[in-house]
Amino acid sequence: MIKSLYTISGNSLVADDTFRLELQAGETGREISGEFVHLSIPDFYLRRPFSICDAGDGKLTIFYKVVGEGTKVLSKMCVGEKIDVLAKLGRGFSADECKESALLVGGGLGAAPLHFLAKELKAEGKRIHAVLGFNKASEVVLEEEFRALCDSLTFTSLDGSLGIKGFVTDALKASLPQYDYFYTCGPMIMMKAVCDFLEGPGEASLEERMGCGAGFCYGCSIQTAKGVRRVCTDGPVFKKEDILW
Ligand SMILES: Cc1cc2nc3c(=O)[nH]c(=O)nc-3n(C[C@H](O)[C@H](O)[C@H](O)COP(=O)(O)OP(=O)(O)OC[C@H]3O[C@@H](n4cnc5c(N)ncnc54)[C@H](O)[C@@H]3O)c2cc1C
Ligand code: FES
Repeated sequence: MIKSLYTISGNSLVADDTFRLELQAGETGREISGEFVHLSIPDFYLRRPFSICDAGDGKLTIFYKVVGEGTKVLSKMCVGEKIDVLAKLGRGFSADECKESALLVGGGLGAAPLHFLAKELKAEGKRIHAVLGFNKASEVVLEEEFRALCDSLTFTSLDGSLGIKGFVTDALKASLPQYDYFYTCGPMIMMKAVCDFLEGPGEASLEERMGCGAGFCYGCSIQTAKGVRRVCTDGPVFKKEDILW
């Protein structure tokens, strides 16, 4: 865990209620996809957790949706302002579990950490198939970035304004790419449907309300097949077979 002050170098609206936040790191280690950062938003006692969408050259990129007071304040922060960040948190995706071909299934901003994973997989020379679901076209993020990384990319939208109309599982049922390992991130109900449908090994990045974000308060505890685990330190990424939905 690394705590330091980062400088905001970008914070702009990129889709419905969705912002892309760029942070210039004071001090950084090598981030791994699936890890998260805990941001201290001015005037809020509890930090807020966000997945890393991209990292490198001392820069971190996060995509966040404005859902409550904290993210509303965050969306008003300006370039040049400093923000207190706890970084290097959580156990991320295991890119090395995939031998040749990965299937990435994302819902909404679950696409953000999967983008970072796709970059890692691509750097290792693996094939990448992605299925990304959104409510509607105006919520889509990272389209160009995924197109540049993926061997195949399918979009779904609930209202039919982009790609296949329906859920990500509708797209998977219609055409299932060849893969040896899958990764999913998005709403819990979507990830459960994905894990129920997909055969073979895989993992999912879970979300839980967090207190400390660093293993001390047990506020994020969940029951797993291996007993009680903390999402912030034992996860947020868990193997499919360990998750008790
Ligand atoms: C490991 C992890 C990674 C995350 N990554 C991202 C990300 O990349 N982008 C993003 O937009 N959001 C992400 N979230 C969710 C994000 O932390 C919450 O949306 C944020 O903390 C809400 O803060 P707020 O003060 O605006 O909302 P609050 O006023 O605290 O809550 C507003 C609404 O959001 C819900 N909410 C708040 N926190 C969470 C949470 N941790 N999980 C699920 N629902 C929550 C509440 O139940 C409520 O309905 C992540 C959460 C976790 C645990
Ligand atoms: S949030 Fe405190 S232990 Fe996980």
